[in-house]
Amino acid sequence: MRIALLGGTGDIGQALALRWAQDTDHEILIGSRDAGRARQKADEYVTELDSRGVDREVKGFANEMAADRADVVVLAVPAYHVRDTVEAVADRIGDADALVSPAVGMDRDESGFHYKPPGVGSVTELVAETAPEGVPVVGAFHNLSADRLANLDVELDLDTLVVGDDEDAVETVGTLADQIEGLRALSAGPAANAAEVESLTPLLINIAMENEGMHDVGVTFE
Ligand SMILES: NC(=O)c1ccc[n+]([C@@H]2O[C@H](COP(=O)([O-])OP(=O)(O)OC[C@H]3O[C@@H](n4cnc5c(N)ncnc54)[C@H](OP(=O)(O)O)[C@@H]3O)[C@@H](O)[C@H]2O)c1
Repeated sequence: MRIALLGGTGDIGQALALRWAQDTDHEILIGSRDAGRARQKADEYVTELDSRGVDREVKGFANEMAADRADVVVLAVPAYHVRDTVEAVADRIGDADALVSPAVGMDRDESGFHYKPPGVGSVTELVAETAPEGVPVVGAFHNLSADRLANLDVELDLDTLVVGDDEDAVETVGTLADQIEGLRALSAGPAANAAEVESLTPLLINIAMENEGMHDVGVTFE
């Protein structure tokens, strides 16, 4: 399978790219608004993987080109730029198996981080509203720490919640999550439940900030 990480030059994009490249045979495409930056970051990821004895090809492209080539497209961009990013690639993703949103709308004040969803209820639903008709949208990976994932020395033992209305797309993304060693996908229901999932992220960041030793806190459910 080909996975495109739009904004794969940033934190969560890098983290998912490294883990999928290390743990699976999927083809990883790094997208950026700037193709040169995508190629440079892709080369850095290859070097990092190589230093660990993992011989993998990771390629960089402009977001549009990466999206065009992919089966699964991950919107690894800040929440406030998700709509623009979907619009920029809209005519390239008609055949995608899933369009994945890990984004969370948050703001910060003196007390900490606060959930700030878009008017439609959640970023996942905003993506669903913006995506071309027929492109299945899935929310996933919201509650992971990019730093923890990107550090390949760390053995993961984490859950990620998956939401979406298209059963096949949810299964596809859940399988991709499960294929990362130490990560378990759990369904949290349809896209209408995305706000409950997304809103955990500011809680986790506040816990990380308030408690020593909880820097890259994540969730597991028993
Ligand atoms: N960081 C985490 O631990 C984490 C964990 C789970 C979920 N998330 C969610 O994942 C999303 C990305 O987080 P991140 O920390 O990876 O963000 P980030 O590093 O700040 O940005 C990711 C990429 O977004 C692109 N970007 C920046 N401004 C943009 C704009 N105006 N329009 C289009 N693209 C733009 C940039 O790529 P180019 O400049 O190369 O185009 C950048 O490298 C967020 O919504 C966040 O809530 C983050």
